Amino acid sequence: IILGILVSGRGSNLQSILDAIHAERLNAKIGVVISDNPEANALKRIAGFDIPGVCIERKNFTAKQDFEKAIADELNIHHVELVVLAGFMRILSPYFIQRCFGKIMNIHPSLLPAFPGLDAQQQALQYGAKVSGCTVHFIDQGIDTGPIILQEAVPVLEEDTVETLAERILHVEHILYPRAIGLYCDGRLCTENRRVRILQEV
Ligand code: GRF
Repeated sequence: IILGILVSGRGSNLQSILDAIHAERLNAKIGVVISDNPEANALKRIAGFDIPGVCIERKNFTAKQDFEKAIADELNIHHVELVVLAGFMRILSPYFIQRCFGKIMNIHPSLLPAFPGLDAQQQALQYGAKVSGCTVHFIDQGIDTGPIILQEAVPVLEEDTVETLAERILHVEHILYPRAIGLYCDGRLCTENRRVRILQEV
């Protein structure tokens, strides 16, 4: 399966995918990495790999749809079969999502449907939650509302700050995301109504 990875920043989830492919834990190929931010550290992570990195900036387009069309065109050029959002800080419009429905994954640093949107770790702390975690899900037209693929919990400790909680969650993200992508690549994810079933390995 050919992946198209959309990033905006640090790129540690991109790194975990690169590492999983390198270690042959994930049978996939990265066709292209697209960033909306020319400064994204994520783009540096593919230097030295034979992976195209493309920057498509929102400010170069008047209409959001033209920006998204440029992304969709780039994904098509590289024959992308699964779009992986890895810290991509923009909300995709229904226009884009309809084009790729069921083929876009995201990772979110909370146990959805708790704490959607920005600053999920801070939301969990402020709420006083005793557990949080991360969620890999397919994208639908809402914000962090699509069918859930995998989740894993981590404890929230009394002494936690946003940084320590984020780090504990991130550690789990780096295991969960390559695993979820691998399930998709192996044809083991089956969505019925909004429930994702994981098929047994054959
Ligand atoms: C992660 O916490 C992810 O859950 C969220 O954005 C962050 C991206 O981090 N969607 P990185 O760029 O992969 O390091």
